[in-house]
Amino acid sequence: MGDYILEVEHLTKTFDTPRGPLLAVDDVSFNLERGKILGVVGESGSGKSTVGRMLVNLIRPTSGSVIFDKVDMATLSARQRRGRTKDIQMIFQDPFSSLDPRMTVHQLIEEPILQHRLIPDKAEREARVLDLMDTVGIARRLYYSFPHELDGGRRQRIGIARALATNPKFIVCDEPVSALDVSIQAQIINLLEELKEQFSLSYVFITHDLSVIYYLADEIIVMYMGRIVEKASSDELFANPLHPYTQALLSAIPSIDLNEKKNRIVLKGEIKSPINLPAECRFSGRCRHCHDTCRNVIPALKEVSLGHYVACTLFD
Ligand SMILES: Nc1ncnc2c1ncn2[C@@H]1O[C@H](COP(=O)(O)OP(=O)(O)OP(=O)(O)O)[C@@H](O)[C@H]1O
Ligand SMILES: [Mg+2]
Repeated sequence: MGDYILEVEHLTKTFDTPRGPLLAVDDVSFNLERGKILGVVGESGSGKSTVGRMLVNLIRPTSGSVIFDKVDMATLSARQRRGRTKDIQMIFQDPFSSLDPRMTVHQLIEEPILQHRLIPDKAEREARVLDLMDTVGIARRLYYSFPHELDGGRRQRIGIARALATNPKFIVCDEPVSALDVSIQAQIINLLEELKEQFSLSYVFITHDLSVIYYLADEIIVMYMGRIVEKASSDELFANPLHPYTQALLSAIPSIDLNEKKNRIVLKGEIKSPINLPAECRFSGRCRHCHDTCRNVIPALKEVSLGHYVACTLFD
């Protein structure tokens, strides 16, 4: 048995919408080993953020469980859960909309410390804010600056400092670099990697961009319309993608090797509505290997080689 910081079992979320129940996350299970990074990839609407929000307790699962550090979150009282929330933090995609524009850098970083009543003494708290600014690489002269005076990279550094302020054990990074220039993306990713080592953190790293996650993640799950379609170590997934959807995602990554010819798989066909889903493979309408069976079953996730799981009738 591994030392898991997070065990997710049959996690499901249905949203009630005017058009009917929308199954955003359907029977998602995975474990995260302490100190590791799990990548979650998939296109827009595949349920990545909904999974992330359930992990950090921002929304409640319809069914299934999130076991954090051996404790099932659903069994905790509201008070116990609040005590736990400082261990679990989230970094968001758009640092601008997640930061209150009327607050200064120092107020923004101080806010979670105040919320959790971590440091009662004002001078100590200010020292802690400065310390956090140093840790994430925001110059101290920006102490009284407002978010709109800063560039995207610095704003994301504030988001990271806020997440670190409560000394968490686990952070969900939801597209933390997608809104940033490519040159700044690398800086933020390096920072996140350094912080993970420095503070013994574990991450779930959500992205629609597989190339961002390759070097970072130990393991990757690929989601399609709320379900995991493939799960493997990062190296294995890139070397040997099995699900037709993963293959299409990988083929879309531009190669830096100009001599390497890539055959990009362009996905065609219908994208199903997530409302009132029929019992068939959700990818069937876009899959170049689709056959009769795919229209009649929801493929289960099966281990096809050690640690490599795929949900596709081609592997039955
Ligand atoms: N509060 C909500 N009410 C109703 N439907 C929702 C709600 N939140 C998400 N959804 C729906 O759930 C599905 C999954 O959304 P989610 O935001 O988790 O996807 P995502 O993979 O994070 O996409 P993106 O890459 O665009 O961020 C989508 O169909 C979305 O419209
Ligand atoms: Mg999202």
